Amino acid sequence: MNDSRICTIDGPAGAGKSTVAKAVARSLGWQLLDTGAIYRALAVVAEARAVAWDAEPALAALATEMNVRFQLEGDRNRMFVTVGQQPEEEVTGKLRTPEISNGASAVSKLPTVRAALLGLQRRLGERGEVVVEGRDTGTVVFPTAGAKFFLTASAEERARRRWDELRAAGQDIDFARVLGEQVARDEQDTQRAAAPLRQADDAALVDSSGVPLEAVIARIADAVRARFRLT
Ligand code: DC
Repeated sequence: MNDSRICTIDGPAGAGKSTVAKAVARSLGWQLLDTGAIYRALAVVAEARAVAWDAEPALAALATEMNVRFQLEGDRNRMFVTVGQQPEEEVTGKLRTPEISNGASAVSKLPTVRAALLGLQRRLGERGEVVVEGRDTGTVVFPTAGAKFFLTASAEERARRRWDELRAAGQDIDFARVLGEQVARDEQDTQRAAAPLRQADDAALVDSSGVPLEAVIARIADAVRARFRLT
């Protein structure tokens, strides 16, 4: 049995992972490691340097030079990036545009990019007492994590949640487009050769369709407490 005090939450886009992971981390008093934000940050950094999202060697070189830092402030998980010797830059506000979502999906397909970001993710989680959110965190990044969850929901429900978020953020976008992009991204994430999205054998499946996220949060936090005998 694995005893690392790491809780991984993997699953497709829009299943509520970010909300759930953040709330579980807060409930346990643990750190939060958002691995999707790392792929998003690489897309932001690449765009700023005019590196194309399919230029694998250049992207892998950037990924090797990239360092990141998170700062959880209330509901906001602020993110700061350093590339090589350049000054640190905050990228929080740049991560969640539809364009960067596509860029992150594209760069995350590239095996040498994934390999370059593996060490960074492991370093950020090595002290334990961390909730890690992503696609392959229970299968590849932290295979010995002591508590693993695979959080999913129907495609319509996931698209509707993402649509609500985008509209709340002031973006005027129609539902059909959000659903279409969601399905395309799922396809890319599950079909890619490098670390495709899949449930770890020892992960608990949690389907959040029609379930309030508060209930999902309580269920996962309680399971982690029971698993590590936390009070
Ligand atoms: O969870 P997210 O939408 O912020 O992730 C952005 C992209 O990064 C998404 O296309 C999936 C990819 N990703 C990945 O390949 N592996 C991870 N561990 C996390 C995210």
